[in-house]
Order: sequence, then C-alpha cells, then structure tokens
Amino acid sequence: MPAIGKSNIVLDVINNRRSIRKYLDKPVSDEILAQILEAGFRAPFAAQLGSVIYTRSKEKMKEAGIGVYPTAPVHLIFFIDIARMEKIMKKRGHEYRSDDMFTIWLGMQDAVLVIENLTLAAESLGLGSVLYGMAPARADKIAITFNVPKRVFPVVGMSLGYPDPTEETEIRPRFPLEMSAFEDEYRHHTDEDIEICMKKMDEGYIAQGYYIKSRIKVPLGDKEDTIGFDKYSWSEHISRKFRNPDRRGDSLLEILRRHGFDLK
Ligand SMILES: Cc1cc2nc3c(=O)[nH]c(=O)nc-3n(C[C@H](O)[C@H](O)[C@H](O)COP(=O)(O)O)c2cc1C
Repeated sequence: MPAIGKSNIVLDVINNRRSIRKYLDKPVSDEILAQILEAGFRAPFAAQLGSVIYTRSKEKMKEAGIGVYPTAPVHLIFFIDIARMEKIMKKRGHEYRSDDMFTIWLGMQDAVLVIENLTLAAESLGLGSVLYGMAPARADKIAITFNVPKRVFPVVGMSLGYPDPTEETEIRPRFPLEMSAFEDEYRHHTDEDIEICMKKMDEGYIAQGYYIKSRIKVPLGDKEDTIGFDKYSWSEHISRKFRNPDRRGDSLLEILRRHGFDLK
C-alpha cells in the first residue's frame, strides 16, 4: 500500500516522535502538564478504566523500583483502574462480579489509548517522553510508594520533559508496512518475509549504532555470548528478551492476584 505523501501537523508529530532519554533542566509547568493530561484522557474509552499518577520526584520512582533517566523532570505511572468503577457500581447498588481477564483487558485497552494520546499531546507541545515497561513487575513497590488500592494495577511508567537537543536521537525503523498491515486476511509470513522484517530492523539499528552507543544487551545466562556490540541487533535483543521470562520475577498472574484480582 503506497503512502499518499500528504503531511499535516498531526502526521508530522506522529512521524517525528522518538523516545527521549536525555532532558533539559527545564521544569514542566503545572499548566502544560494539565493540558497534556487532559488530552490523554480525551482518548476513546470502553469504561474509563485508566488512571495515572504523576510525580516530579525521582526518589519516589526509585522507591517504587523504577529506574528513571536521571535528567527527566516528570514521571508518570499509568494504571488499569477497576477500583473507581467498583465505587460507582456500589453507588448504583450493584456488586462488581466480572473479576476476570476480560475486565483487565478492557482496562488495558483504556489505559494504552490514554498513554498514546498523552504521548502525542506532549510531543505537539515540544516535550518528549520515554516509557518504562517493567512497571507491572514492580506493582508491589508502586502500590506502597503511591498508596495505590487493590484492583488498580500498573501498565507502564513514563518520563516526560523537554528533550536535550545535544542528545543524538534517531527515528527508529519499523517493519515494512505490508508485514504488519494486511487487507482482508492475515499474512502468514514466509521465511523470506521474516528475513525482510529482520533485515529492516537489524540494519536500521546497526546503522544507527544503537547498541554500540547504549551498551544495552540482554545477558544469555545459560550459554556463551559470542555476539559483540557491533553485531548485536534488534532481532537478537528482542529474541533474548522472550527466551528469558524468569528475569521478571513472579508471574504476572501471581502479581495480579496479590493486587486484588481473583483470577482463575
Ligand atoms: C511498553 C513499552 C515499554 C518500554 N520500556 C522501555 C524501557 O524500560 N526503557 C527504555 O529506555 N525504553 C523503553 N521503551 C521505549 C522503546 O525502547 C522504544 O519505543 C522503541 O525502541 C522504539 O523507539 P522510538 O520510541 O524512539 O520509536 C518502551 C516502549 C514501550 C512501548
């Protein structure tokens, strides 16, 4: 499917967004933050099952077990929030009885739409952001640090601020569109398709020197690592993440149960 090639402000913001890991020492005003948060919650919703806690305290994020990029001025944690809905139901004289994976999924759907809306709103105002995926694994510490009740569960963390222009940031590659967007039926990827996907990502990341510069590597643990940073690629990195599920600690199901979800 060829791109039409039109551009407008919204598409420019979307197409130029990249994760920001170094920020200027410039505070984000309450007004700007409120505007960004407001735009986040303008996202479509299934049942408004998303919430966010924001803080300017790196110490609190540390206490919550989330290592943030040191120059970032504002941090957020997004939640699936069932507790508020339970209270609304109670007022209506109803009991919450759909404590199952579907409700959590609905909460996840609501929360991620807020996250992306907020990301783009921030971007449009000249701010940048980066996400922290380990938040669900840190749910216990997050709950204590931020006084979070049962059945409110972290989806992802984020830092927000004005990008430091001295940081080299590149637009990271994506799979070719036809490998992710299919008309009418699923594309069962052939070996050749998979090689095309890997080539696009790996050559892109290697050309940008991403792993050489960041020195990020997932340790293999059980076997010798023969790949140097010059050959370490996106597909190797992502493959290593998915072969080591134990590195996250308890299973998500166990953590969810500790936070009030009585999942079968
Ligand atoms: C759910 C999720 C979790 C992420 N977690 C982290 C993280 O812990 N640390 C980090 O530096 N970047 C994290 N990222 C950012 C990704 O690395 C980044 O979005 C991806 O490499 C694509 O780059 P781009 O955002 O610049 O296009 C995360 C992104 C998502 C969507």
